[in-house]
Amino acid sequence: MIRAAAAVLALTAAASLPGPGAADAPLPVPADTCADADWAAAARDRSLAPHLGLPPLIHPPDNPPTAEKIALGRKLFFDRRLSINGTMSCAMCHVPEQGFANRELATAVGVEGRSNRRNAPTLINVGHLDPLFHDGRDHALETQFVAPLVARNEMANPSAGRVVAALNGMPDYRPLFDRAFGAPASLDRIGMALGAYQRSLTVGDSAFDRWRFGGDAGALDTAAQRGFALFTGRADCASCHTVGAADALFTDQGFHDTGYGRMREAQRQAPPPTLTVEVAPGVVHEVDFDIVRAVAAPRFADLGRYEVTEDPADRWLFRTPSLRNVGLTPPYMHDGALGTLDDVLDFYNRGGGGHPDQDPRIRPLGLTDRDLRDLKAFLASLTSAGIDCLVAEARRHRPDNP
Ligand code: HEC
Ligand code: HEC
Repeated sequence: MIRAAAAVLALTAAASLPGPGAADAPLPVPADTCADADWAAAARDRSLAPHLGLPPLIHPPDNPPTAEKIALGRKLFFDRRLSINGTMSCAMCHVPEQGFANRELATAVGVEGRSNRRNAPTLINVGHLDPLFHDGRDHALETQFVAPLVARNEMANPSAGRVVAALNGMPDYRPLFDRAFGAPASLDRIGMALGAYQRSLTVGDSAFDRWRFGGDAGALDTAAQRGFALFTGRADCASCHTVGAADALFTDQGFHDTGYGRMREAQRQAPPPTLTVEVAPGVVHEVDFDIVRAVAAPRFADLGRYEVTEDPADRWLFRTPSLRNVGLTPPYMHDGALGTLDDVLDFYNRGGGGHPDQDPRIRPLGLTDRDLRDLKAFLASLTSAGIDCLVAEARRHRPDNP
C-alpha cells in the first residue's frame, strides 16, 4: 500500500514538471584542464580573483577563504551523515551537474520523501546574493545552512546542536576542523566552512560578459544582441534583473509581485479535474485529481515575502532571481512550475499573472516569435565558461565520506 502510494507520488512529482527543458541546456561536462590535486587552492584563488562581469566578491572579515576551509566545506556539503538518518546531503538538492540546482524536481524533496513548497535554486554565484532564499529570510551563508539542517522536510535534524555533536564524534572530521580552524566542530565553524566552499562557486565570463564588459564585439551573435536590446528596452526586464555599467548580477536583490504567486495560488485552489501523467515516454494517462490528492502530500499556499515580515503589503512578493546561468537550471520560478525558458517568456509576454495589483511593469508585451527567440538567445548567452571546473572540483577526489 505504501509502495503504491509512493509510486503515485513519484508520478505526480513527474507530472508537476511540465517539460525537461533539457534542450535549452546541455549539461556541463568536467574538463581535463581544471585543477586536480590542488583543487581547493584553485577554488580559494577563484574566490579572491576578479571575474569578468561580476562585482568584487565580499568575504566576511572574520571568514576569509582558505583552501583548508573550502576542502572541509566541500566534505560537509556532500556528506549525507549531516541528515537525521544519513540519507540526504546538501548536494542532493543542489546537484553540481545540474547547475548546483535540481532539474529533476519542480519542488525539492527531502528526507523520507517529504515535499517542499519551493524549487532548489542554483548555488553558482550565491556569494553575491543578499538576501538569501526566495523570500529573503536570511542574509549570510554562515547562518543560512541551519535552515536545511533542521527543516523536517529537508535534512530533518531535531536540532543544530545534534549535528555539531555528531561531527565531533566522527574521526574523519577531526583533522579537517583542526587544519581549517585549529579547533573542533562548532556551529560557527560549520557555517564558515560551508560559506567558504559556496563562495568558491563564483564564475563570470559568459559570452554576454565578454561582449559587454570584455570588449569582444564578436562574442555575442546578432540574435542575442537583439535580445539584449529588448531585455533592457521594450520588454523592460532589466529594471528588476539589473545590468550595471561595469558588471551585472541580473537581480536588484529586491522583492516584486509578478502575478505569478497569485496565479499559482488560484490554480492550487481550483485544481483541474484530471492530471496528465506520463507513465513512460509517450504513454500518457489522465488521472482523476482526487486520486492524486488522496495520496500526494498537500500543497500549501506560499505568500512569499509576507511569511518573513507579516506585512500585508509583502503578500505575493518574491525575490528577483539572478539570471546568470539560467539556461542550466530549469525548471523555473519559486515553485519550479515553469519547465522551460519558453514557458517563462510566454508568461511575461502574456502579462504575467494578470492580476490588477501586480507590478505595473509586468503587462502584455506584444513580443513576436522572433522577439521571443532573440530574448531566449540572450538568456542562453549568460552561461559562464568554467562551470565544468566547478563540477570537476565537486566530483574529483571525492570527499571520503563513508
Ligand atoms: C531537500 C532539498 C535541500 C537540501 C537537502 C538543501 N537545500 Fe538548500 N535549498 C533548497 C530549497 C528548496 C531552497 C529554497 C528555499 C526557500 O527559498 O525557501 C534552498 C536554498 C538554499 C540557499 C539559498 C540560495 C538563494 O538563492 O538564496 C542556499 C545558500 C542553500 N540552499 C544551501 C544549502 C546547504 C549549504 C545545504 C546543506 C546544509 C542545503 N542547501 C541543503 C533545497 C535544499
Ligand atoms: C517587476 C520586476 C521584474 C521584471 C520587470 C521582470 N522580472 Fe523576471 N522575475 C522577477 C521575480 C520577482 C521573479 C521570481 C518570481 C517567482 O519565483 O515567483 C522572476 C523570475 C524570472 C525568471 C525565472 C528564473 C529562475 O531561476 O527561476 C526568468 C527567466 C525571468 N524572470 C526573466 C525575465 C525576463 C526575460 C523579463 C522581461 C520580459 C523579466 N524577467 C522581467 C522579477 C521581474
